[in-house]
Amino acid sequence: MEATAQDDECIVLSGLLSGKSRRLIASVNAELKALKGKVRMAKKPIETVADAQRRARRRVPRPVYTALISGNQAGVTMNANVSAFDKIGFRPRAARETPEETPLIRDLSSSVLGIPISFPVICGPVGAQAVDPRSEVAVAAASRRAGTAFGLSSFGARPIEEVMPANENTFYQLYWTGSRDDIAFRVERARKAGAKGLIVTLDATGGGLGPRDWGAPSIPSKLDLAAMLKFAPLGVSRPAWLARFLLGGGLPDMTIPNSASSATDKALFANIYGTLMQTPVPTWKDVEWIRELWGGKFVVKGIWRSDDALRAIDAGADAVAVSNHGGNNLDTTPATIRVLNSVATAVGQRAELWMDGGVRRGSDVAKALALGADVVALGRAWLWGLAAGGEEGVYQVLEIHRTGLERALVGLGHSSIKDLSIDDLEIPEGFLLKA
Ligand SMILES: Cc1cc2nc3c(=O)[nH]c(=O)nc-3n(C[C@H](O)[C@H](O)[C@H](O)COP(=O)(O)O)c2cc1C
Repeated sequence: MEATAQDDECIVLSGLLSGKSRRLIASVNAELKALKGKVRMAKKPIETVADAQRRARRRVPRPVYTALISGNQAGVTMNANVSAFDKIGFRPRAARETPEETPLIRDLSSSVLGIPISFPVICGPVGAQAVDPRSEVAVAAASRRAGTAFGLSSFGARPIEEVMPANENTFYQLYWTGSRDDIAFRVERARKAGAKGLIVTLDATGGGLGPRDWGAPSIPSKLDLAAMLKFAPLGVSRPAWLARFLLGGGLPDMTIPNSASSATDKALFANIYGTLMQTPVPTWKDVEWIRELWGGKFVVKGIWRSDDALRAIDAGADAVAVSNHGGNNLDTTPATIRVLNSVATAVGQRAELWMDGGVRRGSDVAKALALGADVVALGRAWLWGLAAGGEEGVYQVLEIHRTGLERALVGLGHSSIKDLSIDDLEIPEGFLLKA
């Protein structure tokens, strides 16, 4: 095959050299071409969330990937959240009466806690370590680029003061961990940093936590020399991941800075997780107390039952997030999408309704909106995007949901997300649960 002027300079040089050197250079040239091909492959946009997950698996060390998958016990709830969406069908329309009903651009615009967003999907709070050096700063930036908001986990890796400038529409998520003084310290810090809302997650009760059938990830409690030696081969097995961290400021330090309970607390993951497990589940009075303390927009996350949703509203929630923690709490809890409509009916217009759990496509978002959700939060989907491609990966995952939602509207013959209703869905008998 003839070399072109654009080909690597090695080929040009090879004309001046001996046969052996030429062969060597030709083989280097072939390697370079193959590498260029791979680089091009890596730049190929993420096509689906499943694609992001595949790339994530290849890019991060095994224990990190296992932690991203997460899921509790047998993973029944984790899997049910996803498969439940496949059981709901669409009832498509072929054509409409007027051109206004079939605009080229469909209206996806919405709002969350009074903040306008370009479409009703946000990045929900997910705590994960060692995925990407920029971590939640990258997620905040990606969600801002996509015109939406972000819920920063108190178990995240980057401090809220670094995250807020990347997206002013960031909320702070809190667990009921430690004493009231500890919690008040975190709330005040979030306020000072400018968080636009407080999410209190109530469904990480510890009671449901248990071992995973596929094995728990091995996570060091701190990254000391012993841990480094133990985990070094894993880092070396993913050199690009290691290089990203080394170039991005150093190895993950296994701290969760947003859970610090004082200015001097080092906020080691293992210590705070231990405290979470030792802190009794809060009462509704405790929830009211946080609400009073915070004073701003307030979300109660981890609601599965209608009576809890109403109680949360009585305690002052502006939004209720229907969630089973992505199957990380009480395994065998049925999928959130199956109870969403029941909770939506109970809540009515009294509060904004968020949902998460198993959302992997824009059509899943359409189904959730049709069943009464106002806002849909992504969990693992953005996490895999982050692992697959940093900020750009998260942005692409968000855009996959936007495009998919728009396509669903086209198929259903709607000009706006506001037109979606339960009439658009084919739901098997007994599927929707009264919760
Ligand atoms: C690895 C992992 C960590 C999570 N950490 C948090 C957290 O710190 N705070 C929280 O409120 N929810 C957390 N969640 C739950 C998510 O906010 C969300 O409810 C769940 O991921 C939705 O399910 P999905 O992953 O199937 O989309 C976490 C979920 C996963 C998978």
